[in-house]
Amino acid sequence: MASEKQGEYDFIVVSNRLPVDRQTSPDGTEYWQASPGGLVTALEPMMQASGGAWVGWPGRPDLEFDPFDHDGMHLVPVSLTAVEVERYYEGFCNDTIWPLYHDVIAPPSYHRVWWDAYVRVNRRFADAAARLAAKDATVWVHDYQLQLVPMMLRESRPDLTIGFFNHIPFPPYGIFSQLPWRRRIIEGLLGADVIGFQRVGDAANFSLAVRRLLGHSVRRAGAIDIEEDGKPFRRVISRAFPISIDSRAFEEVAKRPDVQARARQIREDLGNPKKILLGVDRLDYTKGIQHRLKALGELFAAGELDPEEVSFVQVASPSRERVETYRQLRDEIELTVGRINGDFGSIRHQPVSYLHHGYPRDEMVALYLAADVMLVTALRDGMNLVAKEYPAVRFDEDGVLVLSEFTGSADELRTALRVNPHDIDGLKAAILEATRMPQADRRRRMRAMRRRVLENDVARWSSSFLDVLREARGNSAARDES
Ligand code: G6P
Repeated sequence: MASEKQGEYDFIVVSNRLPVDRQTSPDGTEYWQASPGGLVTALEPMMQASGGAWVGWPGRPDLEFDPFDHDGMHLVPVSLTAVEVERYYEGFCNDTIWPLYHDVIAPPSYHRVWWDAYVRVNRRFADAAARLAAKDATVWVHDYQLQLVPMMLRESRPDLTIGFFNHIPFPPYGIFSQLPWRRRIIEGLLGADVIGFQRVGDAANFSLAVRRLLGHSVRRAGAIDIEEDGKPFRRVISRAFPISIDSRAFEEVAKRPDVQARARQIREDLGNPKKILLGVDRLDYTKGIQHRLKALGELFAAGELDPEEVSFVQVASPSRERVETYRQLRDEIELTVGRINGDFGSIRHQPVSYLHHGYPRDEMVALYLAADVMLVTALRDGMNLVAKEYPAVRFDEDGVLVLSEFTGSADELRTALRVNPHDIDGLKAAILEATRMPQADRRRRMRAMRRRVLENDVARWSSSFLDVLREARGNSAARDES
């Protein structure tokens, strides 16, 4: 840790993953590549201006790296052993909290050794941030992997201003209360000055859990008053801050002639179908990929959609492949795709193009431009950024978004075709409506979505969170002095 500048950073981001991935080139040399997440785009200017540091895991087990500088940011890798990856990341994060917070779509597993690893790894992240932070610095902790970090940090560094943002849903109390360590999680989160959620409903679920488990009073604006010895001690703000994307950056890519040429090429390569339908997801059981395949299969079978005239492109990027539920899901999806193509395909044309890959942003934008209908049928999703990327890209004001009401995006994108993905008949009707919608209607709906996404971009999201954080800290400093 020779190059680490301890205690000098005024702004620190803590997230499970660093904003860079460790890549290996064909000749075996290794290098860091920026991962194209929206969070980095939103925070990079602030990190560069305020001399910020980012604490995170480099994404592979048993690798120790010294801190290093990348694009004007100081990156501090936290290493995890193979056993910790298994128990903390694959286990507690992605086989306990992830299914629990997504409405138990898959059954969560509860294992005490996983919980122990979660506590230990959260402590490691908290210690790294505590070492880096200057006096009175601001630390912004992200997501469900690190819910204990706020309180751990507050205990070791009470001078810090601490924010937490939960990128995934926060479940209703009836579900959350299954968790054997439910009280510890709430206490951990309450170490923050401001706790952000995607939707108003998530913040309300959290408030109820706080009241039920700890008995704190929660005021209307999400202000939680924590008392000590019967006297007011601290106020925590919990509120919705719906996240967004770097909309202008997506739009700019879409306006490039090479990307538009690629979109035309995609249509041609698919055999110039009348309609291209598109799904873009991490391969995850929360995304409702099977539901949309079922609806499409039935539409083909009933002759309501002509498989010769339609191409459905499903990009399913590989994710959490060592977790059993994800393996099973992959098998199920691939079986279904094979059946549909077997039943309705011909030598000339396969109605489903299934791609188990991740693609760079330019290729994704070209796909969005080529798609007449975008299918977002998640069973539960904190926000779903694909639903925002599609309208951001469609500067031609064309294309139809079919959007599940169980995504955070549905709160904002009111002119999408709204669906309940569990209702297969409703989903089929929406897909048909989308493929037949007149152009004037498509334009009206797309315009309204674009206005929203271009105005509420990720920079606005981060600045509104950080403004509330600054204010919250200002208020408690004023209280401390009085
Ligand atoms: C969701 C979570 C993120 C996570 C991402 C990818 O969007 O909110 O915290 O990084 O999925 O999952 P992974 O397990 O690969 O980090």
